[in-house]
Amino acid sequence: MRNIFICILLLSIAVLPYPVSAKKAATIDELVEMYNIKPCAGCHADKYEDWKTSTMGNSIIDPRVLLGMRTFIRLALDEEKSMKREDITICLNCHIPQIKDAAPELILHIGDLILTAVENDNELKREAAKKELSKLNLNCLGCHNLKATGFNAAPKEKVIYGPRSMENNPHAGFGFQTEKSALLSTSEFCAQCHHCPPDVPWKDCPTLYTTYIENFIQKGRKETCQNCHMMGEARIHTFAGPGNIDFLKSSLSLNVAARPTRYIDIYENRKMPALVLEIELKNNAGHVIPHGCAIMPRIIMELSVRDQEGREILSRQKEFSVNDLYFKGGKQVVMAEWDVTATEHFNLGINPDKPDTSTFIIPLEKDIKSVNVEVNVKYTYSRDRIFTIGKTVQKVEIEK
Ligand code: HEC
Ligand code: HEC
Ligand code: HEC
Ligand code: HEC
Ligand code: HEC
Repeated sequence: MRNIFICILLLSIAVLPYPVSAKKAATIDELVEMYNIKPCAGCHADKYEDWKTSTMGNSIIDPRVLLGMRTFIRLALDEEKSMKREDITICLNCHIPQIKDAAPELILHIGDLILTAVENDNELKREAAKKELSKLNLNCLGCHNLKATGFNAAPKEKVIYGPRSMENNPHAGFGFQTEKSALLSTSEFCAQCHHCPPDVPWKDCPTLYTTYIENFIQKGRKETCQNCHMMGEARIHTFAGPGNIDFLKSSLSLNVAARPTRYIDIYENRKMPALVLEIELKNNAGHVIPHGCAIMPRIIMELSVRDQEGREILSRQKEFSVNDLYFKGGKQVVMAEWDVTATEHFNLGINPDKPDTSTFIIPLEKDIKSVNVEVNVKYTYSRDRIFTIGKTVQKVEIEK
């Protein structure tokens, strides 16, 4: 059983300032052709290779995304009277922005392919559907054209927007102008999809971006999303995220301090040994971690204290997650469980401005000579991808 409530920012379907294209794509191949990135791959091979393996390059066929969209079709679109299958565009607007140029029959076809990719009994059919869907993703032109000018200005057709001014017009040879968009180097660029549109009141839209502003920028930090996720000037297009184990590990520092002590036991009329254990988990990212909508992803800290014979003295577990949950009687909107503005927000994650600390005072038996303290920190990204992101083992001699 998998709990997968996705806080989709429903209101993001608010009118986007796109120019009206005359032609609508009726097939996946036509849509791919309209946003053809083959030339980009030829001249920017490094960017292309990095992007292709990134979550952006797989923004539909990522297994979690496919499951999420299947469930949205089955539990929301098919159940709600006021909704139709075509409304899968609610999701596709961010996951594949070029969907704005798809004809209604193509949108229906994409919905069918999603269902086939997840539910069909025949593995060959599932794989064939995934292969077809893999042609759709958040590609170069999604960011360097469609999303490059922000909520208030329409992007021009046949223009590649970049972070700098380019005098030499490097793309003229294949019919594209090159223009600077300062937005590309800002966190607001990413927030277009990682947060609600600007007309949604700030407090109604608690997201990862909210914690970036409140717990990072307002605490005096300066780094943009690009500084960390694109490695600054290197502008690496893997968009490193939790799927990159080194990047993931860099987000957390685990500090464990264990000290032996003694206490006076008036009941036994003697001095007894004890252990004081302090565990600190410090978030080095630019926002709350882990971030999701409910249950997953999750960070789990496991503590175990054993004596010199390996007998367990104490075992504890602490979990961190961010959850958006709908309660009966809450804001009455269609598909409320899916809407971040209708759900109640529980931030049980670790914020960048406040390390999580736990202190344990552990009385010990008189015959204990030493203890082994082991702390493991795990990151549950999805049901079948669990990473160890921190581990320490310490032996502590107990004073006599
Ligand atoms: C406003 C833009 C936006 C819309 C609309 C949107 N998504 Fe997403 N989606 C994202 C972003 C950004 C991420 C990555 C966020 C993260 O990992 O914190 C994501 C990640 C996901 C994930 C993987 C993360 C997880 O929690 O398992 C699933 C599944 C998903 N989306 C499904 C959907 C579905 C289904 C819809 C439509 C009901 C939808 N999305 C609508 C932007 C959007
Ligand atoms: C998710 C959005 C996104 C996608 C998808 C994307 N880019 Fe970028 N790209 C950016 C951003 C943002 C910058 C500017 C970063 C900055 O200024 O810090 C950038 C910068 C660049 C640059 C300038 C690099 C430099 O070192 O000056 C090139 C070239 C580029 N992208 C090419 C591509 C190509 C080719 C693709 C497709 C294979 C692609 N991008 C896909 C967001 C994206
Ligand atoms: C014929 C080769 C060629 C093709 C094809 C090509 N580019 Fe470029 N691109 C260049 C050159 C050359 C530069 C300038 C590099 C520099 O000066 O650092 C450039 C620069 C860029 C920049 C950076 C602009 C800036 O402001 O820093 C982006 C973004 C970019 N290209 C995106 C794309 C995308 C997206 C495509 C496909 C639609 C594409 N390019 C296709 C050759 C090409
Ligand atoms: C056009 C919408 C869009 C824009 C713009 C965008 N993203 Fe995303 N981003 C997504 C979607 C959709 C996903 C989920 C894809 C998936 O899970 O396969 C995602 C996933 C991610 C992930 C991986 C999350 C995970 O759980 O694995 C990271 C990291 C990320 N984005 C960072 C950024 C950064 C940094 C920027 C700005 C430079 C940015 N994004 C701009 C839509 C966008
Ligand atoms: C100081 C560096 C830093 C900054 C700034 C930063 N991030 Fe991250 N981010 C990280 C690290 C490290 C991780 C991996 C930890 C994790 O996924 O729990 C991460 C994880 C993520 C994830 C995956 C969340 C999860 O737990 O699955 C998304 C999505 C993301 N960042 C988007 C953004 C966006 C959008 C911005 C800008 C608004 C941003 N980040 C700013 C360092 C940063």
